[in-house]
Amino acid sequence: MRGKLIVFEGIEGSGKTTQIQYLRQWLDSKLINDRLSDYPTGVIVTRQPGGTSIGQQIRQVLLQPAAGTESLTSTSELLLYAADRAHHVERILLPALETGHLVLCDRYTASTVAYQGYGRKLDLDLINTLNSIATGGLNSDLTLWLKLDVAQGLKRMNARGTADRIEQAGIDFHRRVHTGFATQAQDNTFITVDGSLSQEAVAENIQAIVLNYLQQWYAL
Ligand SMILES: Nc1ncnc2c1ncn2[C@@H]1O[C@H](COP(=O)(O)OP(=O)(O)O)[C@@H](O)[C@H]1O
Ligand SMILES: [Mg+2]
Repeated sequence: MRGKLIVFEGIEGSGKTTQIQYLRQWLDSKLINDRLSDYPTGVIVTRQPGGTSIGQQIRQVLLQPAAGTESLTSTSELLLYAADRAHHVERILLPALETGHLVLCDRYTASTVAYQGYGRKLDLDLINTLNSIATGGLNSDLTLWLKLDVAQGLKRMNARGTADRIEQAGIDFHRRVHTGFATQAQDNTFITVDGSLSQEAVAENIQAIVLNYLQQWYAL
């Protein structure tokens, strides 16, 4: 496929949304300045969950704080993430990649392994099966893991104000999620980025990594 899928992963507050914006700006100007405008065709920023209008509704169910005594079960949570992913892959990711876009996606399959597998302790084989059903086998071309201390991430989130349902889960849950990412980071396609540096320093490190990949992908 001409397009490439670049995924940002990491715990709450690790800087995914911030860094996606930095990278989008850098790529936009690079594509114009280097006259690469037809190859790749452009940059698309999206996210899981919530990258489509149906996904936005699923995201709301997933992230709204528990209402009264009726809390979402872990299995229901897992299946809702899978439903969002299946829809998003087919409606957004595949068409964008087929038309040659660089797609920057805020979270993907590794988050489900980390949160529902390590965090909620659901069966990892089941999660891998669901991930492969939901993605139809579409893997990321590059996954950037913004590595950040759990306490530091939660501190950033607290500074930001109200917490959603997942952010409200206890510190032990978030530590297990961190372990989930760290375990997956041993995989080759998972590049670790130090998320504790300044926003600008993290952005520069990501640009260097992505430039290297662009050169391989597009023989620049
Ligand atoms: N490198 C950084 N240093 C300090 N604060 C940061 C850094 N990157 C992001 N932040 C701040 O931390 C908060 C969480 O960042 P965000 O990009 O929303 O993380 P995520 O999308 O991974 O949850 C935001 O308020 C953001 O401004
Ligand atoms: Mg975010």
